[in-house]
Order: sequence, then structure tokens, then C-alpha cells
Amino acid sequence: MIEDLHELIASRPAGHSLPRAFYTSPDVYRLDVDVVLRRHWNFVGHESAIPQAGDYLVCEHDLDSAVVVRGDDGEVRALANVCRHRGSRICSEPAGQARHGLRCPYHLWIYNLDGSLRKAPWLGPDVDTSTLGLVPMPVEVCQGLIFVSFSDEPLDFGGVRRALDDALGSFGWSDATVAHEERFSFSANWKLALENQVECYHCLPSHPEFARVHAMARTGSEGAASDVMDGWAMQGEPGAELYFSSDNALQGCALTGTEDGEAVGPLMGPADATGNFVVAYAGIVNHFLAYADYGCALRYAPKSALETDLTVTWLVPNGARPGLDYDLERLTWMWRVTVAEDLRIVSENQRGVSSSAYRPGPYVMPIESKTLRLTDWYLQELSGAVRP
Ligand code: FES
Ligand code: FE
Repeated sequence: MIEDLHELIASRPAGHSLPRAFYTSPDVYRLDVDVVLRRHWNFVGHESAIPQAGDYLVCEHDLDSAVVVRGDDGEVRALANVCRHRGSRICSEPAGQARHGLRCPYHLWIYNLDGSLRKAPWLGPDVDTSTLGLVPMPVEVCQGLIFVSFSDEPLDFGGVRRALDDALGSFGWSDATVAHEERFSFSANWKLALENQVECYHCLPSHPEFARVHAMARTGSEGAASDVMDGWAMQGEPGAELYFSSDNALQGCALTGTEDGEAVGPLMGPADATGNFVVAYAGIVNHFLAYADYGCALRYAPKSALETDLTVTWLVPNGARPGLDYDLERLTWMWRVTVAEDLRIVSENQRGVSSSAYRPGPYVMPIESKTLRLTDWYLQELSGAVRP
């Protein structure tokens, strides 16, 4: 497989989309997860979703799963969602409450919120239960956003923390409330989803609603006032997580990313944020959008070579009430519509690249430069990791 992989990498024409196997092969997918993605950070949810001791969120990533739980001491911890008895999944719902401990449904071992084993029915006194706690996982919280890594040696988060503080600090995200969350599953390789996510070449033809409000759909570039894309996907510090942010103009007199460009609720950002929006990427699969009056977080989770999940989380200012301070339908409209379109075009893209007639095609410069950087970076990571 490794021999073939070197050949496969070499077969990619420079500046072109990837050969078919990168989008379809289960063997390549396994390397993607274990070699390319493992050390990166995954957005799980916002702190406001787990305010009380025992509140938890589950983060799925390929075959792995983490429970992020608020402890009795108020701390947020991440624990492997795998029982230390015979390995059953413990929490099967995406979120829940476990004030009285995390209970494995199989034989009812019960774990404290710090992961230590509290009770194991009929387990003999000769077994050292202190060695049977849930495996702790790396966790970071920044601007209220919770991240986990599925590696014992995650990439350094410090640069991302500074950058997110800088990009999102003035939007009040650390004090925000989750207004809504939606989960989607779609039939496409994770790389096709991200290739699509980082370019706006498709915005005008595929996102008419987005294009009415966001200038980047018409400018042929992102129309960014500041763009530090070079920090993302190509030039992260060795051993450090990757990061990108840009400050973008909205179209005409639009104040925010809604159907009519009008604000949908109380402002969460500074007054001068109206008419603009900030895009921030932290790591590979997490994308954040900060508008003057709401925030939107997207996380892609690989599931198999041909399946990916997407979670979309909408944030509003702390205390904002649905139906009174904002209309949930209006708040979520832009990104529900845009995400539905993206999932359709990405799934169609997968059907095309899965076909025997597919040949890698040229990325169009400069409008697809981020997509090129992403795929170049990916091949670099893969080839570095399998180099003899
Ligand atoms: Fe969890 Fe048996 S596998 S209690
Ligand atoms: Fe799109």
C-alpha cells in the first residue's frame, strides 16, 4: 500500500484536483484519519451548551468518540467514550445529562465526571479500580469554543488560541448562547467537502442567496480586508495547529448574513462589525463565521471514505431569547440554505470523481488558490508521514 501511495502521490498533476483514489479508497481514508488528521483539533460545541455539572456533548470522529463533560468542579473534561470493562460505547446521544455519573448501559459500570470508575457491579476487591478510569483526552476551550483532539500528542493550540482571541474576541463569543444546532450526513469524502468550503468560485452559481449578501461571491476573490491565509493549510509552525482568518465585506448596505441583510437580533459584535463578517478556520475541519448579530460554527467529521458528517451551530448573545429577541427561522436561514446547497454540490462532486471517467482537472487561479493549498498541504502531510 505504501509503495502504491508514493506512486499515487506522484501521479497528481501539479495544480490539479487529486487522483480518484484519494477521494474513494478506504486504504487512503485510513491514512487520512490516522496520519493526516489525528493530531488536529476538533470543535465539539460551545461551553454554554453544558452549563451544569454532568451536562455533556459527544464528539464523533471516524471510529473515535469523546464525551466532553462538565465536572462537579466546573471544569470541562474530555474522556474517551469507551467503557473500560469490555469497550462498549457509553453515551450514544449527541448530548445529555449525567449528573449521577456516566453509566455504561451494557453492564452498568458507572464513572465519575472526572472519568474515575465509581462502581462496577460484582467486580472483585482484588481488582485495582484506580486503573480503570475512562481515558482522558486533550481538551481546550477558547472564546467559549470547546475543542478536543483524538491524539495523545496533539498539535500545539497556543497559536490558534491567540488568533481566535484576536479574530473573535470583540464578538462576545466567550459569553454567547447556542441558539440552534443541526447535524447532517452526506455522501462525500471529507476532502471534497473542505475543498469546497475554502473556495468561493462556486458561490455565484451555487449559492444565489449567499451571493446576494456576501461581496466575496462577486469579487472573484474573498474581498478580504485582511487575509492571513498563508497561516493555514500550508505554513503552520511545525508542531502547531493551523489557523486562518479574514475580515470580509458584505454586499451593498447589508448589515449581516441574513436573507435581507438586516440584523436579526441584538448585536454581539462591535458596532463597526455591521457590514462585515469574520471568517476563521482553526485546524482543518472547523470553520467559524462571526456576523454582527450572530455566529455560526461548522465542523466536518470524516466517517468513511465516502461519508462525512457536518455539524452547524448558531450562536447568539448571552441572554437573547428566541421569539422575543430574535426569530430562529430568520437567524438560521442563510446557513441552512447555504449548507443544503453545499451538501448537494459536494455529493454530486463525489459521484463524478467516483466515476471511471474522472480525470484530475486544473484549479482556477487565484480564486481556487486555497483549495490548491489545501490539497498540496494534504499530499505533503501524507508523503512526509509515509516516507521511509
Ligand atoms: Fe461497559 Fe460492560 S462494557 S459495563
Ligand atoms: Fe459553498
